[in-house]
Amino acid sequence: MMRPTERLMEEHRAILRALDVLERIADRYGDAPSAHAEDARAVVGFIRGFADELHHGKEEAMLFPAMEEVGHSLRAGPIGVMLTEHDEGRALVRAMEGALDQAEGGADSFAAAAYSFAELLRAHIDKEDGILFPLAERALPEKVRAALCVRFEEHDGARHAAAYRAHLDTLARLEERLDASAA
Ligand SMILES: [Fe+2]
Ligand SMILES: [Fe+2]
Repeated sequence: MMRPTERLMEEHRAILRALDVLERIADRYGDAPSAHAEDARAVVGFIRGFADELHHGKEEAMLFPAMEEVGHSLRAGPIGVMLTEHDEGRALVRAMEGALDQAEGGADSFAAAAYSFAELLRAHIDKEDGILFPLAERALPEKVRAALCVRFEEHDGARHAAAYRAHLDTLARLEERLDASAA
C-alpha cells in the first residue's frame, strides 16, 4: 500500500531538527548578532526553502486538493486550520527576515519570532501527524494515494532535486557547527 503521507512525515522530522537549530541560534543571537547572523540566515533560509516552499508547497498544491476532491473543505475543518497555520508561519518567517535585516536593532524581535515560529510549527506537525494525515490515508482511494506518491517523487526527486539536497546539507552543516561550538 502506498502511503503518500510517509514522505511528508519524514520531512516533518527534518523540520523538527531545524526548529531545534533555530531555537539554539535564537538563544545566542542576542549576545552577538553579527557573530550569529550567517547561521541565523541559513536556518531561516532552510525554513523558507524546505519547510515552506517544498513541504507546505506539496501539502497545499497536492495533498489538500486531493482531500478536497473527496469532500474535505479547504476553508473549514482541519485543512482550513492547517492553511491558516501555514500563513501564520509565513508571517513569522517574514518577521525573522525583517529582524535579521536590522542586525543589532532586531535582536529581540528575531528571538521572539523564532520562538513563536518553533512553537507554532511543532504544534502544527503534531496535528498533521496525529490527525490530518491519518484522515487523509483513510479518505483517499488507493489510486489517488499512488498518484500522489508519484507526484511527490517528481516534485522532489526530479524538479527540485538539487534544492532538496542542498537544504538538507545546510541543516546537517548547521547542526555540526552548533554541536562543535557547544562542545
Ligand atoms: Fe502543514
Ligand atoms: Fe506538514
